[in-house]
Amino acid sequence: MAEFPVDRLRRMFPALNRSGSSVFFDNAAGAQIPQHVFDAINDHLLCRNVQRGGRYRESREVDAEIARAREVLATFLNAAEPDEVAFGMNATSFIRLVSLALSQNFGDRREIVVSDLDHEANIATWMALEREGAVIRWWKVRDDGNLHLADLEPLLSSKTRLVACTVTSNALGTIIDVAGVAKRAHAAGAEVFLDCVHYAPHGPIDVQEWGCDYLVCSGYKIFAPHMGFLWGRRAALDALPTFREDFIPNVPPLKIEVGTFVYENVAGMRAAVEYLAELGGPSGGNDASSSLRKRLSSAMKAIREYEATLSAALLQGLRSIKGATVYGIQDAQAPHLRVPTVCFNLKNISPALLTTRLADKGIAVRDGHMYSPRLMKRLRLSPDTGAVRASLVHYNTREEIRVFLKELQEIAGN
Ligand SMILES: Cc1ncc(COP(=O)(O)O)c(C=O)c1O
Repeated sequence: MAEFPVDRLRRMFPALNRSGSSVFFDNAAGAQIPQHVFDAINDHLLCRNVQRGGRYRESREVDAEIARAREVLATFLNAAEPDEVAFGMNATSFIRLVSLALSQNFGDRREIVVSDLDHEANIATWMALEREGAVIRWWKVRDDGNLHLADLEPLLSSKTRLVACTVTSNALGTIIDVAGVAKRAHAAGAEVFLDCVHYAPHGPIDVQEWGCDYLVCSGYKIFAPHMGFLWGRRAALDALPTFREDFIPNVPPLKIEVGTFVYENVAGMRAAVEYLAELGGPSGGNDASSSLRKRLSSAMKAIREYEATLSAALLQGLRSIKGATVYGIQDAQAPHLRVPTVCFNLKNISPALLTTRLADKGIAVRDGHMYSPRLMKRLRLSPDTGAVRASLVHYNTREEIRVFLKELQEIAGN
């Protein structure tokens, strides 16, 4: 494997090169953006900050930008067609939109499977449907921090409408076998809604190979600004009863994208995918879309491999810290089962105090329940205090891990 060009990539991110900044390990709460993404947002705002659908030049440019972004994002996800991708505000509002639509037509299938490993956005939103007669079935995380297919199977029946689960835990970093989830859910006649928000910056996405029905992502985790996008299988979106004004055609993506969304951030998201693709080699093949897909696949595979080395180094280092408890998959030999997002605690120091002391040393990590309070309870932690989370992405380095571990060692009194 060629060496991962982390130094070259870091130079593209102004925030990583600010003087005085040290170690940024809070990427799960929002990653930094490369200059290229900022330029795309800036260009949109300065040159064409107008409504789409007009006959004049700037408005036609907005239409063209959105169409281009839709194609690029469809390629990122390996969607069958660009119209399966809809843009909007964030992941939570898309989960709400799909859940409200499904609740209008449960038929004989009222059961929704949710997991206690998930972000609360992909739990509470479905639980809110209990008022409409939905029945929630819990897929429980095991002590190893994973969701096992063997535990899902007994929950599925002819009453199951949907399985909602994460692709990767935003707290423990566990990667779920989502193709296995879809296979089992479909065998029972149910649909699958995947929360891909945390996984998206870490590895290749393939909605066709995974066989899911809906999938949601957030731009701010994928080196882009705050926005969200929803993918749905065409037939599933066609059947979805969404709110829209009468004059809006009842077809995706229009039936999903009712109202104005943040066009400049959609331009930024498109530029972020192009930034990732650049890692997979230069553009310019004959078939633009398949070559973009190929470049993206090899870029995301390279990111997976590099991040596995970060996971291994971080887990191994944390094991040597006095009084450290790591939650979830801890095996430094099995980094392929997780992304480099690690929750841990140190004995005799609260998560809030530990992150404050690290912040004083220029190290950015987060404490709390990570919007997964049920998981915190499952780990026998108080949701009020939770744990400390270090969340790394491809622009982080082993040198940063060394600095972070050294500070931890000092605090722990190693
Ligand atoms: C796994 C996961 N799902 C959902 C969300 C919520 O995303 P949004 O803020 O875009 O609604 C987050 C946010 O951190 C997340 O990590």
